[in-house]
Amino acid sequence: MKNRLSRLIQTDGKALFLPIDHGYFQGPTRKLEKPGETIKPIVQYADALMLTRGVLRNCVDPAMNKPVILRVSGGTSVVGEDLANEAITTSVEEIIRLNASAVSMSVFVGSKYEHQSLTNLAKLVDACEDYGIPVMAVTAVGKELEKRTARYLALCCRIAAELGARVVKTYYCEDGFEKVVEGCPVPVVIAGGPKTETQREVFDFVYDGMQKGAIGVNLGRNIWQTEHPVAAIRAIRAIIHDNYTPEEAQSLFEQVKAGKT
Ligand code: R5P
Repeated sequence: MKNRLSRLIQTDGKALFLPIDHGYFQGPTRKLEKPGETIKPIVQYADALMLTRGVLRNCVDPAMNKPVILRVSGGTSVVGEDLANEAITTSVEEIIRLNASAVSMSVFVGSKYEHQSLTNLAKLVDACEDYGIPVMAVTAVGKELEKRTARYLALCCRIAAELGARVVKTYYCEDGFEKVVEGCPVPVVIAGGPKTETQREVFDFVYDGMQKGAIGVNLGRNIWQTEHPVAAIRAIRAIIHDNYTPEEAQSLFEQVKAGKT
């Protein structure tokens, strides 16, 4: 367990996870139509890659030396009835065979499928702990993005940790994010959410989230859907691992964009 976790969370206690699992419920997402191409220039700056077994098998070079967080929940789609109605989609044997450093699945607290997703988490933890595989719970809101308040996120994170998640991924919220982190006994990483208007907004919320106790990010669209993915991931990495302020990150972003570094 410790060995796997230390592949994900670096010696400074921080982490930058790069998710490319979006196709599992929304199909060929913009700029992720060919995941193998999307990650080529940016994966070197990530601490781990989050994806499904299908993309891992078909789009990623098996020689890639980057820890994998395998998305193992699914079974719903954006055109289906309810995104919360997920099941576990990958066996433990497959998780081990694919040499995953961790697995991740979504929980949908407060939804019609709350009980199902939470007991799925508990069962996955039971199965994975036997083999020392950490489970990262994703506090998902489906299409209801307005749910992302500190009170709700704190509830979700705490429940996920109580059920045995080793890491929790949750959304950032401007008011009270520190309470979300304080109430969660395991490390919290910030999810990105839909692409923001400006790159600076991302630097601001990543910085603020880190100041309030997050250990890092699991951030996808605000990296690979941007015009300058390499500049974006390098600037975000600098906030996480080199304590850059949003201003310093913006300056690094501009320099990388201009090809000056
Ligand atoms: C949703 O749960 C997906 O698994 C993504 O991993 C997650 O939303 C983070 O990606 P993004 O930063 O694009 O929101």
